[in-house]
Amino acid sequence: MKVGIIGLGYWGPNLVRNFLAHPEVEKVYGCDKKEDRIKFIASRFPAVELMTDYDEMLAKDIDAVIIATPVDLHYPLAKKALEAGKHIWVEKPFTAKSAHAQELIDIAAEKNLRIFVDHTFIYTGAVKKIKELVDSGEIGDITYFDSVRINLGLFQHDVNVIWDLAPHDLSIMNYLLEGHKVVAVAAHGVASYYDHENIAQISVYFDNNSFAHFHVNWTSPVKIRKMLLGGTKKMLVFDDMENFEKIKVYDSGIEMKTTESIHEALVQYRIGDMHSPKVVATEALALGAKEFIASINEGREPLTSGKDGLDVVKILEASEESIKNRGKLIEIA
Ligand SMILES: NC(=O)c1ccc[n+]([C@@H]2O[C@H](COP(=O)([O-])OP(=O)(O)OC[C@H]3O[C@@H](n4cnc5c(N)ncnc54)[C@H](O)[C@@H]3O)[C@@H](O)[C@H]2O)c1
Repeated sequence: MKVGIIGLGYWGPNLVRNFLAHPEVEKVYGCDKKEDRIKFIASRFPAVELMTDYDEMLAKDIDAVIIATPVDLHYPLAKKALEAGKHIWVEKPFTAKSAHAQELIDIAAEKNLRIFVDHTFIYTGAVKKIKELVDSGEIGDITYFDSVRINLGLFQHDVNVIWDLAPHDLSIMNYLLEGHKVVAVAAHGVASYYDHENIAQISVYFDNNSFAHFHVNWTSPVKIRKMLLGGTKKMLVFDDMENFEKIKVYDSGIEMKTTESIHEALVQYRIGDMHSPKVVATEALALGAKEFIASINEGREPLTSGKDGLDVVKILEASEESIKNRGKLIEIA
């Protein structure tokens, strides 16, 4: 397998390192329009063949293109790669518009090519463990998903805080609540410093009465990466800032014992033990690269496919529309 990576800025070098380490990857090409990034990669990874022109890279004998540029370039670069017959890996968020995501999915289907969207968290030991707990029925039915992702974040020149940070949490939500349909979104946010919102809150409604809420912020003095999952049997806290006990499962719950009328409803709380399951620490990007290459070899959709990318983009789009309309509820088709 030979791969070409475009965009060698902040995230690109992690992709270079992980694809170089993959046993089935015999050659890695790299492309960035900035000479300083080319020099940086050349000094760190001398095995990579580097260039500044994307067309030159596409003309090489490569099987797959990995796109790690700012989001507005994902669609044109991805389209060009698919049209050249290459499988693609696209960084989150998949595209800046859902219509573009759908178009890429259609081209890939027609040409029998794979689209991998880098929803990195799906490949972390913590999220895999939470998925196991949800799928085994230990948590019960999910009643809510509540997440906070805030810090003094890097302001992006092209997108607001929801397009930058929320794809992580939205992709985790969609993965854990697989099978449940998102029906509506409402969001609030403000742009305190420039054109793009730096703080936002998103509420997501599901067809089965589950509810999700996201708080993202680039202007928080403290870094919080926390997610709560409420279930009818147990409740769970995922704190990604913890080194050891990242997941805590609480044997806590609520039971509603209704008598004749709601005024006499008895709410019973169950507060039991807490345990912290072991989480495997393999680097998520290494597992993502493995999955991408396996999906190409096996001719199947990867775990984080174009469709998963599209589902996240639809929620981001609806959130943006809602923010522009002061929190108006936007139905998701
Ligand atoms: N999966 C994750 O956890 C994760 C983490 C960080 C960033 N990302 C994603 O990765 C992507 C890149 O983010 P970043 O922070 O590395 O951005 P960045 O701005 O640091 O790097 C982007 C690079 O792309 C290059 N580039 C832009 N246009 C180009 C062109 N036409 N030809 C060649 N090179 C070009 C730029 O010169 C720059 O070096 C974004 O989509 C971002 O959302 C994902």
